[in-house]
Amino acid sequence: MKVKLRTLAISMTLIGAIGAPTFAAEELVKPIQPPKSINLGMAELGKKLYFDPRLSKSGFISCNSCHNLSMGGADNLPTSIGHNWQQGPINAPTVLNSSLNVAQFWDGRAPDLKAQAGGPIANPGEMAFTHELAVHVLETIPEYVREFKMVFGKDKIDIDQVTTAIAEFEKTLVTPNSRFDQWLLGKKDALTADELAGWKLFKESGCVACHNGENLGGTSFQKMGIVEPYKAKSPAEGRVAVTGKDADRFSFKVPTLRNVELTYPYFHDGAVWTLKEAVDIMGRLQLGRKFTEKENAQIVAFLKTLTGEQPRFTLPILPPSSDKTPRPQPFGK
Ligand code: HEC
Ligand code: HEC
Repeated sequence: MKVKLRTLAISMTLIGAIGAPTFAAEELVKPIQPPKSINLGMAELGKKLYFDPRLSKSGFISCNSCHNLSMGGADNLPTSIGHNWQQGPINAPTVLNSSLNVAQFWDGRAPDLKAQAGGPIANPGEMAFTHELAVHVLETIPEYVREFKMVFGKDKIDIDQVTTAIAEFEKTLVTPNSRFDQWLLGKKDALTADELAGWKLFKESGCVACHNGENLGGTSFQKMGIVEPYKAKSPAEGRVAVTGKDADRFSFKVPTLRNVELTYPYFHDGAVWTLKEAVDIMGRLQLGRKFTEKENAQIVAFLKTLTGEQPRFTLPILPPSSDKTPRPQPFGK
């Protein structure tokens, strides 16, 4: 009883916080819309940059190395491998549907995709380059010079154009038409009885208080380990790094559950490999509820209906370097 009351109190405050007067779960989740008003030329350039390892010091690491679009936009590693085989501190979230999140990164330190995209290029533990050197590499590649000029109408390439183009491409990486979305839009036979039972458990036990919106996540920052603490394998402390408020320690951006079947391992430390275990942990730590084997399996079955149509496009062919292009430095610091 004690746990139940506490759970209810949590749900009520969360629901209050997101401004919905009553618990109308179907209104709290929304189907994904296809991307609107994309500048096609800019997105095409952004796609090349997304796949171009020459934006890294080693000439080997691209955005796609850690956000592999053949693997749900993630790397399926607990934490990423960066320049010089460095082990990253935190799990790489998927880039799929990331345009729908309130902010970027686990702690939300980047307000949007454009602000985010400059980060990894200059991060010594990721692509280990500088913005100046990355722009310089692009300037030595005649086809890039022509394409940037065509898209941005300026004589000089700058990092702002690079991140703007990458962000435009990322806006196209949404995954509409999952079976759950088909069901939301009225196709009543899109889900099986077990999947529907899983959805019912998901909303009635309170998961939807945090995992809501188009992305079933990405709308707020919440503490990890409300009822019971989470023993994380990562030193990251979450939102406190941005706000400086003690109350935000171990608060993380609620991750999207879209395509969650593809984006293992789970949590910010990537410590959990199965959805079964992730659902069990969420139930106990966030809601004080221990699901039975059957309930757990139903929720997992529901989560797998959130896999949408993966972005489909032709792999970009990157323009060759010129004699002036600086050589990559794959080894050493
Ligand atoms: C070495 C691996 C690595 C590379 C290379 C890399 N990323 Fe990431 N990316 C990560 C990790 C790890 C995080 C989470 C970091 C954090 O939250 O502190 C992340 C976070 C993100 C996010 C935020 C998603 C969300 O929901 O918060 C986006 C978007 C993103 N990266 C896009 C890119 C783009 C674009 C590039 C290329 C310019 C890139 N990444 C290169 C590992 C990488
Ligand atoms: C109080 C808010 C809250 C509630 C309630 C909640 N979650 Fe979460 N969920 C989070 C946060 C925050 C994370 C990220 C925690 C971390 O990585 O440290 C998360 C992570 C997850 C993940 C891992 C996703 C990934 O990509 O790493 C899954 C799966 C998940 N939740 C499912 C559920 C289910 C199922 C329920 C209901 C039983 C639920 N959550 C209830 C806030 C919540």
